[in-house]
Amino acid sequence: MQTAGVAAAYDRWAPVYDLVFGKVFTIGRRQAVIAAEEAGRRILEVGVGTGISLPQYKRETQIVGTDISDSMLDVARKRVREGNLSNVEDLLVMDAEAMSFADNAFDVVVAQYVVSAVPNPEKAMDEFLRVVRPGGEIIVATRVGAESGLRATIEKTLMPITSKLGWRTEFPFAFYADWADKHPDVTLIERRSLPPLGHFSLVRFKKQEG
Ligand SMILES: C[S@@+](CC[C@H](N)C(=O)[O-])C[C@H]1O[C@@H](n2cnc3c(N)ncnc32)[C@H](O)[C@@H]1O
Repeated sequence: MQTAGVAAAYDRWAPVYDLVFGKVFTIGRRQAVIAAEEAGRRILEVGVGTGISLPQYKRETQIVGTDISDSMLDVARKRVREGNLSNVEDLLVMDAEAMSFADNAFDVVVAQYVVSAVPNPEKAMDEFLRVVRPGGEIIVATRVGAESGLRATIEKTLMPITSKLGWRTEFPFAFYADWADKHPDVTLIERRSLPPLGHFSLVRFKKQEG
């Protein structure tokens, strides 16, 4: 997967994204927003897409959203305008793997169904860690692939197709556990199974207090 290809894939998805993926991820998005608001008031939502989760945040919560696809963000901009979501400070085209924010800039970084869509997920996680403040949280709603068995085989077989559509089917939870293990200032604090079919999880990490 390459960033330009992923951006082009989501530019194509933009007009129909909410129709196709709106409902299926509703519970995960809701749980991510609740968890994020419990963790802090200044939130960065990476891969905010069409901004489908933005109306769910309380008006006191300040949000900056980023995405690699300008067409997805165009839908988000319309949503913010029409919903008068004045707590959304900015919507910026930005690569999750190389963000322009200062270190420790946010209380919380949220990424919903994004990490498995970026070409270098580890780089993106490193960036989330850099921009979240000490004591803050990284909250990820994510696909979790099977580790073995028939589902794992099917997921591997589907990879060449789904990577062209903009995401991976093969994405083991071990990626997150290994990433946390490599960073002494990070604790994996929760893994919660999400519908549909437990193929998705909400994963929370805490950055050590300074
Ligand atoms: C499956 S969609 C999820 C969108 C939204 N978070 C949701 O819950 O519906 C994945 C999103 O990640 C964005 N994305 C993919 N690669 C990215 C990258 N390298 N940097 C920032 N956003 C990226 C895509 O453009 C797309 O909007």
